[in-house]
Amino acid sequence: MITDSYNRVHDYLRISLTDLCNLRCSYCMPEEDYPFMPAAQLMQPAEIAEIVKIFAAEGVTKVRLTGGEPLARKDFDDILFRLQQLPVKLTLTTNATLLHRHIDQLLEAGVSSLNISLDTLQAPRFFSLTRRDRFFQTRENIQLALQKGLQTKINMVVMKGVNEAEIPDFIEWTRHSPIEVRFIEFMPFAGNHWSGTQVFSKQEILELVQQHYSITPLPVPPHSTSTPYQIPGFQGSFAIISTMSTPFCAGCNRMRLTADGKMKNCLFSKEETNLLQALREGKPLLPLIQTNILGKAEKLGGQFSGQAYKHLEGDKLVNRSMISIGG
Ligand code: GTP
Ligand code: 5AD
Ligand code: SF4
Repeated sequence: MITDSYNRVHDYLRISLTDLCNLRCSYCMPEEDYPFMPAAQLMQPAEIAEIVKIFAAEGVTKVRLTGGEPLARKDFDDILFRLQQLPVKLTLTTNATLLHRHIDQLLEAGVSSLNISLDTLQAPRFFSLTRRDRFFQTRENIQLALQKGLQTKINMVVMKGVNEAEIPDFIEWTRHSPIEVRFIEFMPFAGNHWSGTQVFSKQEILELVQQHYSITPLPVPPHSTSTPYQIPGFQGSFAIISTMSTPFCAGCNRMRLTADGKMKNCLFSKEETNLLQALREGKPLLPLIQTNILGKAEKLGGQFSGQAYKHLEGDKLVNRSMISIGG
Protein backbone atom coordinates (compact mmCIF):
# COMPACT_ATOMS: atom_id res chain seq x y z
CA MET A 1 0.00 0.00 0.00
CA ILE A 2 1.12 3.53 -0.70
CA THR A 3 0.18 5.55 2.38
CA ASP A 4 1.13 9.12 3.25
CA SER A 5 1.86 10.58 6.66
CA TYR A 6 -1.82 11.57 7.06
CA ASN A 7 -2.83 7.92 6.62
CA ARG A 8 -4.32 8.47 3.18
CA VAL A 9 -4.08 5.37 1.02
CA HIS A 10 -3.14 6.18 -2.58
CA ASP A 11 -4.73 3.83 -5.09
CA TYR A 12 -5.25 6.19 -8.05
CA LEU A 13 -2.50 7.15 -10.51
CA ARG A 14 -2.91 9.88 -13.11
CA ILE A 15 -0.44 9.58 -15.98
CA SER A 16 0.24 12.35 -18.44
CA LEU A 17 1.21 10.65 -21.72
CA THR A 18 2.42 13.78 -23.47
CA ASP A 19 2.43 17.53 -23.03
CA LEU A 20 1.44 17.92 -26.71
CA CYS A 21 -2.02 19.16 -27.47
CA ASN A 22 -3.85 20.08 -30.65
CA LEU A 23 -5.69 22.91 -28.84
CA ARG A 24 -4.16 25.98 -27.20
CA CYS A 25 -6.39 26.78 -24.20
CA SER A 26 -4.85 29.81 -22.52
CA TYR A 27 -5.66 28.67 -18.96
CA CYS A 28 -3.65 25.53 -19.64
CA MET A 29 -0.84 26.48 -22.03
CA PRO A 30 -0.31 30.21 -22.23
CA GLU A 31 2.03 30.71 -25.17
CA GLU A 32 1.28 29.72 -28.73
CA ASP A 33 4.93 28.59 -29.13
CA TYR A 34 5.02 26.53 -25.92
CA PRO A 35 8.27 24.49 -25.68
CA PHE A 36 7.05 20.88 -25.77
CA MET A 37 9.14 18.11 -24.22
CA PRO A 38 11.65 16.44 -26.57
CA ALA A 39 10.41 12.96 -27.57
CA ALA A 40 13.45 11.20 -26.00
CA GLN A 41 12.41 12.60 -22.64
CA LEU A 42 8.97 10.94 -22.74
CA MET A 43 8.21 7.60 -21.13
CA GLN A 44 8.02 4.90 -23.79
CA PRO A 45 5.07 2.45 -23.89
CA ALA A 46 7.03 -0.40 -22.26
CA GLU A 47 8.32 1.98 -19.57
CA ILE A 48 4.81 3.22 -18.79
CA ALA A 49 3.60 -0.37 -18.44
CA GLU A 50 6.57 -1.27 -16.25
CA ILE A 51 5.91 1.66 -13.91
CA VAL A 52 2.17 0.95 -13.73
CA LYS A 53 2.95 -2.69 -12.89
CA ILE A 54 4.93 -1.50 -9.86
CA PHE A 55 2.14 0.83 -8.72
CA ALA A 56 -0.49 -1.90 -9.27
CA ALA A 57 1.50 -4.32 -7.12
CA GLU A 58 1.29 -1.69 -4.36
CA GLY A 59 -2.49 -1.43 -4.51
CA VAL A 60 -3.18 1.07 -7.31
CA THR A 61 -6.48 0.07 -8.92
CA LYS A 62 -7.30 3.07 -11.11
CA VAL A 63 -5.20 4.76 -13.80
CA ARG A 64 -6.33 7.90 -15.61
CA LEU A 65 -4.51 8.84 -18.80
CA THR A 66 -4.19 12.58 -19.35
CA GLY A 67 -2.00 14.97 -21.32
CA GLY A 68 -1.67 17.53 -22.85
CA GLU A 69 -4.01 15.59 -25.07
CA PRO A 70 -3.41 11.86 -24.52
CA LEU A 71 -4.89 10.94 -27.92
CA ALA A 72 -2.33 13.21 -29.61
CA ARG A 73 0.31 10.61 -28.82
CA LYS A 74 1.07 8.61 -31.97
CA ASP A 75 1.58 5.37 -30.03
CA PHE A 76 -1.54 5.78 -27.89
CA ASP A 77 -3.04 2.46 -29.01
CA ASP A 78 0.20 0.64 -28.13
CA ILE A 79 0.19 2.18 -24.64
CA LEU A 80 -3.47 1.27 -24.20
CA PHE A 81 -2.85 -2.31 -25.32
CA ARG A 82 -0.05 -2.73 -22.78
CA LEU A 83 -2.02 -1.18 -19.92
CA GLN A 84 -5.15 -3.23 -20.57
CA GLN A 85 -3.17 -6.36 -19.60
CA LEU A 86 -2.69 -4.97 -16.08
CA PRO A 87 -5.16 -5.22 -13.17
CA VAL A 88 -6.21 -1.56 -13.15
CA LYS A 89 -9.35 0.31 -14.20
CA LEU A 90 -8.36 2.53 -17.12
CA THR A 91 -9.92 5.91 -17.79
CA LEU A 92 -9.11 8.94 -19.90
CA THR A 93 -9.41 12.73 -19.79
CA THR A 94 -9.47 14.13 -23.31
CA ASN A 95 -10.55 17.10 -25.41
CA ALA A 96 -12.33 14.54 -27.65
CA THR A 97 -11.18 16.08 -30.94
CA LEU A 98 -9.42 12.83 -31.95
CA LEU A 99 -11.79 10.44 -30.21
CA HIS A 100 -13.34 9.05 -33.42
CA ARG A 101 -9.93 7.56 -34.32
CA HIS A 102 -9.54 5.65 -31.03
CA ILE A 103 -13.00 4.88 -29.72
CA ASP A 104 -13.06 1.26 -30.87
CA GLN A 105 -9.68 0.53 -29.26
CA LEU A 106 -10.84 2.23 -26.06
CA LEU A 107 -13.96 0.06 -25.93
CA GLU A 108 -11.90 -3.07 -26.64
CA ALA A 109 -9.56 -2.14 -23.80
CA GLY A 110 -12.54 -2.05 -21.44
CA VAL A 111 -12.61 1.72 -20.99
CA SER A 112 -16.17 2.51 -19.92
CA SER A 113 -15.98 6.16 -18.95
CA LEU A 114 -14.45 9.36 -20.32
CA ASN A 115 -13.95 12.86 -18.97
CA ILE A 116 -14.18 15.38 -21.79
CA SER A 117 -13.08 19.02 -21.60
CA LEU A 118 -15.47 21.56 -23.10
CA ASP A 119 -15.68 25.09 -21.71
CA THR A 120 -18.29 26.63 -24.01
CA LEU A 121 -21.27 25.64 -26.14
CA GLN A 122 -20.66 28.52 -28.56
CA ALA A 123 -18.42 27.98 -31.60
CA PRO A 124 -16.89 31.50 -31.70
CA ARG A 125 -16.06 31.35 -27.99
CA PHE A 126 -14.57 27.87 -28.45
CA PHE A 127 -12.25 29.38 -31.03
CA SER A 128 -11.23 32.27 -28.81
CA LEU A 129 -10.60 29.97 -25.82
CA THR A 130 -8.76 27.18 -27.64
CA ARG A 131 -7.28 29.15 -30.53
CA ARG A 132 -8.33 26.27 -32.79
CA ASP A 133 -11.41 25.62 -34.92
CA ARG A 134 -12.45 22.19 -33.55
CA PHE A 135 -15.81 22.92 -31.91
CA PHE A 136 -18.00 20.85 -34.23
CA GLN A 137 -15.60 17.86 -34.19
CA THR A 138 -15.66 17.97 -30.38
CA ARG A 139 -19.48 18.08 -30.22
CA GLU A 140 -19.75 15.23 -32.75
CA ASN A 141 -17.32 13.09 -30.78
CA ILE A 142 -19.17 13.69 -27.53
CA GLN A 143 -22.30 12.36 -29.27
CA LEU A 144 -20.26 9.40 -30.51
CA ALA A 145 -19.11 8.62 -26.97
CA LEU A 146 -22.72 8.70 -25.76
CA GLN A 147 -23.94 6.54 -28.66
CA LYS A 148 -21.28 3.96 -27.82
CA GLY A 149 -22.53 3.89 -24.23
CA LEU A 150 -19.51 5.48 -22.58
CA GLN A 151 -20.25 7.12 -19.25
CA THR A 152 -19.33 10.72 -20.00
CA LYS A 153 -18.41 13.62 -17.77
CA ILE A 154 -17.97 17.08 -19.29
CA ASN A 155 -15.34 19.31 -17.64
CA MET A 156 -16.12 23.02 -17.91
CA VAL A 157 -13.55 25.39 -16.40
CA VAL A 158 -15.55 28.42 -15.28
CA MET A 159 -13.79 31.76 -15.66
CA LYS A 160 -15.51 34.87 -14.36
CA GLY A 161 -16.23 37.33 -17.15
CA VAL A 162 -15.60 34.69 -19.80
CA ASN A 163 -18.08 31.81 -19.71
CA GLU A 164 -20.00 31.78 -16.42
CA ALA A 165 -23.17 32.98 -18.19
CA GLU A 166 -23.21 29.65 -20.04
CA ILE A 167 -23.70 27.62 -16.85
CA PRO A 168 -27.50 27.41 -17.35
CA ASP A 169 -26.96 26.27 -20.97
CA PHE A 170 -24.70 23.44 -19.78
CA ILE A 171 -27.34 22.51 -17.21
CA GLU A 172 -30.00 22.46 -19.96
CA TRP A 173 -27.83 19.98 -21.86
CA THR A 174 -28.26 17.53 -18.96
CA ARG A 175 -32.08 17.61 -19.30
CA HIS A 176 -32.11 15.00 -22.08
CA SER A 177 -28.50 13.74 -22.01
CA PRO A 178 -27.08 11.20 -19.58
CA ILE A 179 -23.96 13.29 -18.98
CA GLU A 180 -22.48 14.73 -15.81
CA VAL A 181 -21.36 18.33 -16.36
CA ARG A 182 -18.67 19.41 -13.91
CA PHE A 183 -18.12 23.08 -13.29
CA ILE A 184 -14.49 23.59 -12.27
CA GLU A 185 -13.14 26.56 -10.33
CA PHE A 186 -10.29 28.14 -12.29
CA MET A 187 -6.92 27.14 -10.75
CA PRO A 188 -3.47 28.79 -10.89
CA PHE A 189 -0.61 27.09 -12.76
CA ALA A 190 2.71 28.32 -14.11
CA GLY A 191 2.20 30.99 -16.72
CA ASN A 192 -1.61 30.87 -16.93
CA HIS A 193 -2.14 34.46 -15.78
CA TRP A 194 -4.59 33.34 -13.10
CA SER A 195 -6.12 35.84 -10.74
CA GLY A 196 -8.40 35.24 -7.75
CA THR A 197 -10.90 37.68 -9.23
CA GLN A 198 -11.45 35.31 -12.17
CA VAL A 199 -12.56 32.43 -9.95
CA PHE A 200 -16.30 31.86 -10.16
CA SER A 201 -16.69 30.00 -6.90
CA LYS A 202 -18.78 26.99 -5.95
CA GLN A 203 -21.10 29.26 -4.00
CA GLU A 204 -21.55 31.59 -6.97
CA ILE A 205 -22.22 28.62 -9.25
CA LEU A 206 -24.86 27.25 -6.88
CA GLU A 207 -26.52 30.67 -6.54
CA LEU A 208 -26.67 31.07 -10.33
CA VAL A 209 -28.05 27.57 -10.89
CA GLN A 210 -30.66 28.03 -8.16
CA GLN A 211 -31.97 31.17 -9.88
CA HIS A 212 -33.15 28.84 -12.65
CA TYR A 213 -33.65 25.38 -11.14
CA SER A 214 -34.37 23.61 -7.90
CA ILE A 215 -31.55 21.22 -7.12
CA THR A 216 -31.02 18.17 -4.93
CA PRO A 217 -27.56 17.26 -3.56
CA LEU A 218 -26.45 13.72 -4.39
CA PRO A 219 -24.19 11.59 -2.17
CA VAL A 220 -20.48 12.41 -2.65
CA PRO A 221 -18.55 9.27 -3.68
CA PRO A 222 -15.41 8.57 -1.62
CA HIS A 223 -12.24 10.35 -2.87
CA SER A 224 -14.28 12.42 -5.30
CA THR A 225 -13.04 15.76 -6.61
CA SER A 226 -16.59 16.96 -7.08
CA THR A 227 -19.84 17.51 -5.21
CA PRO A 228 -22.74 16.27 -7.34
CA TYR A 229 -26.32 17.57 -7.72
CA GLN A 230 -29.43 16.47 -9.56
CA ILE A 231 -32.27 18.48 -11.00
CA PRO A 232 -35.47 16.46 -10.57
CA GLY A 233 -36.58 14.94 -13.88
CA PHE A 234 -33.28 15.57 -15.68
CA GLN A 235 -31.55 12.61 -17.29
CA GLY A 236 -28.06 13.88 -16.47
CA SER A 237 -26.59 15.65 -13.47
CA PHE A 238 -24.05 18.31 -12.60
CA ALA A 239 -21.22 18.65 -10.11
CA ILE A 240 -18.77 21.25 -8.88
CA ILE A 241 -14.99 20.90 -8.50
CA SER A 242 -14.13 23.52 -5.90
CA THR A 243 -10.36 23.29 -5.39
CA MET A 244 -10.00 27.00 -4.66
CA SER A 245 -12.93 27.82 -2.36
CA THR A 246 -13.57 24.42 -0.77
CA PRO A 247 -10.62 22.04 -1.16
CA PHE A 248 -11.30 18.33 -0.84
CA CYS A 249 -7.82 17.13 0.14
CA ALA A 250 -8.84 15.13 3.22
CA GLY A 251 -9.98 12.24 1.00
CA CYS A 252 -7.14 12.48 -1.51
CA ASN A 253 -6.02 9.16 -3.02
CA ARG A 254 -4.16 10.56 -6.05
CA MET A 255 -0.64 10.46 -7.38
CA ARG A 256 0.61 11.84 -10.65
CA LEU A 257 3.21 10.92 -13.20
CA THR A 258 4.30 13.56 -15.73
CA ALA A 259 5.00 12.59 -19.33
CA ASP A 260 8.73 12.74 -18.60
CA GLY A 261 8.29 10.22 -15.80
CA LYS A 262 8.36 12.42 -12.71
CA MET A 263 6.13 11.57 -9.79
CA LYS A 264 4.13 14.35 -8.12
CA ASN A 265 2.24 13.58 -4.93
CA CYS A 266 -0.20 16.47 -5.43
CA LEU A 267 -1.51 18.65 -8.23
CA PHE A 268 0.25 21.54 -6.48
CA SER A 269 3.35 19.76 -5.16
CA LYS A 270 6.70 21.46 -5.66
CA GLU A 271 8.68 18.24 -5.31
CA GLU A 272 9.06 15.76 -8.14
CA THR A 273 10.75 12.36 -8.11
CA ASN A 274 12.30 11.16 -11.35
CA LEU A 275 11.00 7.60 -11.64
CA LEU A 276 11.85 7.30 -15.32
CA GLN A 277 15.52 8.00 -14.75
CA ALA A 278 15.61 5.46 -11.92
CA LEU A 279 13.91 2.87 -14.13
CA ARG A 280 16.40 3.50 -16.93
CA GLU A 281 19.28 3.11 -14.46
CA GLY A 282 17.82 -0.16 -13.17
CA LYS A 283 17.21 1.18 -9.67
CA PRO A 284 14.24 0.01 -7.58
CA LEU A 285 11.31 2.43 -7.77
CA LEU A 286 9.37 1.48 -4.68
CA PRO A 287 11.60 3.24 -2.12
CA LEU A 288 11.46 6.39 -4.25
CA ILE A 289 7.67 6.19 -4.48
CA GLN A 290 7.34 5.69 -0.70
CA THR A 291 9.66 8.61 0.07
CA ASN A 292 7.81 10.85 -2.36
CA ILE A 293 4.42 10.05 -0.83
CA LEU A 294 5.66 10.55 2.73
CA GLY A 295 6.57 14.11 1.71
CA LYS A 296 2.99 14.86 0.66
CA ALA A 297 1.49 17.97 2.30
CA GLU A 298 -1.86 17.83 4.05
CA LYS A 299 -3.47 19.94 1.35
CA LEU A 300 -2.84 21.89 -1.85
CA GLY A 301 0.83 20.94 -1.97
CA GLY A 302 1.32 23.03 1.19
CA GLN A 303 1.38 26.08 -1.10
CA PHE A 304 -1.83 27.92 -0.20
CA SER A 305 -4.96 27.67 1.86
CA GLY A 306 -8.49 27.40 0.52
CA GLN A 307 -9.95 30.42 2.31
CA ALA A 308 -7.31 32.87 1.13
CA TYR A 309 -7.50 32.17 -2.59
CA LYS A 310 -8.86 35.60 -3.55
CA HIS A 311 -5.59 37.23 -2.50
CA LEU A 312 -3.33 34.46 -3.74
CA GLU A 313 -0.54 35.47 -6.10
CA GLY A 314 -0.77 32.59 -8.55
CA ASP A 315 2.57 33.36 -10.21
CA LYS A 316 4.37 32.85 -6.87
CA LEU A 317 3.37 29.17 -6.70
CA VAL A 318 6.14 26.75 -7.60
CA ASN A 319 4.65 24.38 -10.15
CA ARG A 320 4.51 23.38 -13.78
CA SER A 321 1.97 24.62 -16.28
CA MET A 322 -1.21 22.56 -16.37
CA ILE A 323 -0.41 21.14 -19.80
CA SER A 324 2.64 19.35 -18.39
CA ILE A 325 0.83 18.01 -15.29
CA GLY A 326 -2.39 16.75 -16.86
CA GLY A 327 -4.87 17.92 -14.27
P1 GTP B 1 -12.55 11.16 -11.77
O1 GTP B 1 -11.54 10.09 -11.88
O2 GTP B 1 -13.76 10.97 -12.65
O3 GTP B 1 -12.88 11.51 -10.36
O4 GTP B 1 -11.91 12.42 -12.48
P2 GTP B 1 -11.18 13.70 -11.98
O5 GTP B 1 -12.16 14.74 -11.65
O6 GTP B 1 -10.24 13.31 -10.94
O7 GTP B 1 -10.29 14.07 -13.24
P3 GTP B 1 -10.30 15.03 -14.48
O8 GTP B 1 -9.06 14.69 -15.21
O9 GTP B 1 -11.57 14.97 -15.22
O10 GTP B 1 -10.12 16.46 -13.87
C1 GTP B 1 -11.21 17.35 -13.63
C2 GTP B 1 -10.71 18.54 -12.85
O11 GTP B 1 -10.38 18.11 -11.54
C3 GTP B 1 -9.46 19.19 -13.43
O12 GTP B 1 -9.55 20.58 -13.29
C4 GTP B 1 -8.37 18.63 -12.55
O13 GTP B 1 -7.29 19.50 -12.47
C5 GTP B 1 -9.09 18.52 -11.23
N1 GTP B 1 -8.46 17.50 -10.39
C6 GTP B 1 -8.23 16.20 -10.72
N2 GTP B 1 -7.62 15.58 -9.71
C7 GTP B 1 -7.48 16.52 -8.74
C8 GTP B 1 -6.90 16.50 -7.47
O14 GTP B 1 -6.37 15.51 -7.00
N3 GTP B 1 -6.91 17.65 -6.76
C9 GTP B 1 -7.48 18.78 -7.23
N4 GTP B 1 -7.46 19.84 -6.47
N5 GTP B 1 -8.03 18.83 -8.44
C10 GTP B 1 -8.01 17.73 -9.17
N1 5AD C 1 -8.05 25.30 -13.76
C1 5AD C 1 -8.98 24.31 -13.65
N2 5AD C 1 -9.07 23.26 -14.48
C2 5AD C 1 -8.20 23.22 -15.48
N3 5AD C 1 -8.04 22.32 -16.47
C3 5AD C 1 -7.00 22.72 -17.24
N4 5AD C 1 -6.48 23.86 -16.76
C4 5AD C 1 -7.21 24.20 -15.67
C5 5AD C 1 -7.16 25.28 -14.75
N5 5AD C 1 -6.26 26.25 -14.86
C6 5AD C 1 -8.89 21.14 -16.67
C7 5AD C 1 -9.18 20.86 -18.11
C8 5AD C 1 -9.30 19.36 -18.17
C9 5AD C 1 -8.79 18.90 -16.84
C10 5AD C 1 -7.82 17.79 -16.90
O1 5AD C 1 -8.20 20.01 -16.23
O2 5AD C 1 -10.37 21.45 -18.51
O3 5AD C 1 -10.62 18.93 -18.34
FE1 SF4 D 1 -4.90 15.78 -3.34
FE2 SF4 D 1 -3.36 17.85 -3.77
FE3 SF4 D 1 -5.64 17.58 -5.09
FE4 SF4 D 1 -5.63 18.19 -2.51
S1 SF4 D 1 -4.85 19.46 -4.19
S2 SF4 D 1 -6.95 16.69 -3.51
S3 SF4 D 1 -3.89 16.98 -1.77
S4 SF4 D 1 -3.85 16.26 -5.22
